[in-house]
Amino acid sequence: MASVEEFLKAQRSEGPATVLAIGTANPSNCISQTDFPDYYFRITKSEHLTELKKKFKRMCDKSMINKRYMHLTEDILKENPGMCEFMAPSYDARQDIAVVELPKLAKEAALKAIKEWGQHKSKITHLVFCTTTGTADMPGADYQLIKLLGLKSSVKRVMMYQQGCFGGGTVLRLAKDLAENNRGARVLAVCAEIVAISFRGPSEAHFDSLVGQSLFGDGAAAVIIGADPDTSVERPLFQLVSAAQTILPDSDGAVQGHLREVGLTFHALKDLPKIVSRNVEQSLVEAFTPFGVSDWNSIFWIVHPGGPAILDQVEAKLSLQEEKLRASRHILSEYGNMSTACVLFILDEMRKSSVEDGKATTGGGLEWGVLFGFGPGLTVETVVLRSVPVETIH
Ligand SMILES: CC(C)(COP(=O)(O)OP(=O)(O)OC[C@H]1O[C@@H](n2cnc3c(N)ncnc32)[C@H](O)[C@@H]1OP(=O)(O)O)[C@@H](O)C(=O)NCCC(=O)NCCS
Repeated sequence: MASVEEFLKAQRSEGPATVLAIGTANPSNCISQTDFPDYYFRITKSEHLTELKKKFKRMCDKSMINKRYMHLTEDILKENPGMCEFMAPSYDARQDIAVVELPKLAKEAALKAIKEWGQHKSKITHLVFCTTTGTADMPGADYQLIKLLGLKSSVKRVMMYQQGCFGGGTVLRLAKDLAENNRGARVLAVCAEIVAISFRGPSEAHFDSLVGQSLFGDGAAAVIIGADPDTSVERPLFQLVSAAQTILPDSDGAVQGHLREVGLTFHALKDLPKIVSRNVEQSLVEAFTPFGVSDWNSIFWIVHPGGPAILDQVEAKLSLQEEKLRASRHILSEYGNMSTACVLFILDEMRKSSVEDGKATTGGGLEWGVLFGFGPGLTVETVVLRSVPVETIH
């Protein structure tokens, strides 16, 4: 008979949690950022607000976004005029869309991750599902995803709604703990976002809401995480070495969302990028001191691209070389701010571009990397990553 200590020890993995596969998905409806101001003011019947439209155009021009994807098409918006007003009761219509579409988008991303992983889906033991723009339902989006994918009914689920944009880091932190404390666990971690809950018309009194309309887009990303990989089938892409969460000092109200009859509202202070950049080094020092890393240009970077100003100010504050935030800027440019899903898209971009560019490791040739999630609080998630040699992933 085993003692409790022996029993618990036998539950733990030998090595660290690793990312074993990544899949991403977006709706087919693609919107060019250049065309968006005209489209947005026309569909929301706001063309008479000519100065506001010019301001919105300036926001879109400076967003560094090339295109975004949205489930909401012109036809859907015409059928739901309440979504096109600034503050009309419209929650039911938004929720009807999100409850159906969010798990479907998550399924697409998860199927790609499962295919890359190479193992049978019945080996998935845990599901962590995170969404900021999907809203609570019972049973939730996690249950719907289990059904859509045909996963075992014994899969142990965690559902996180309304975390905000830091949530991509939260799912990795949670999946790491699950994988390392449940020997043999294979965790499917999914972030899915759809702006149907937050799309709204412009207001001359709320410019921050307009900033949100210029930035957010739809997307889902799924990763499979497990420790002690079976290297006859599984190919680790990154090790998850440590994970931390903290609330930044003097940051109350810097970014907020409120779920109301009118859907999810977005509020952000103009100095949000400054608050993030002012504090980011402290998180780096705490995360990397145990590994003797103190040169921030010697690591690879996965940063939630809340907006270009956040990336610019972090880059400037830490004197980062231009290429450090290339993957983060690329995902912002090609998809917009997909909230929690962004950092997982960037992780995918990092390993793919490392292979394409002939780099030695999945971290663009470097060993150590950092993944940062930023969101309401202000809350920062910091994940320390370790790359693997590219030759081991073929
Ligand atoms: C919005 C953004 C793309 C604008 O780019 P920029 O290089 O800062 O350009 P500007 O400062 O000229 O801003 C463009 C306009 O947006 C306005 N603006 C920017 N941030 C704003 C905010 N948080 N609230 C209200 N207005 C804002 C500016 O006042 C400016 O208006 P103006 O042209 O009439 O002067 C950039 O500020 C950004 O990335 N912000 C961070 C976005 C954010 O908070 N994301 C968090 C989501 S997790």
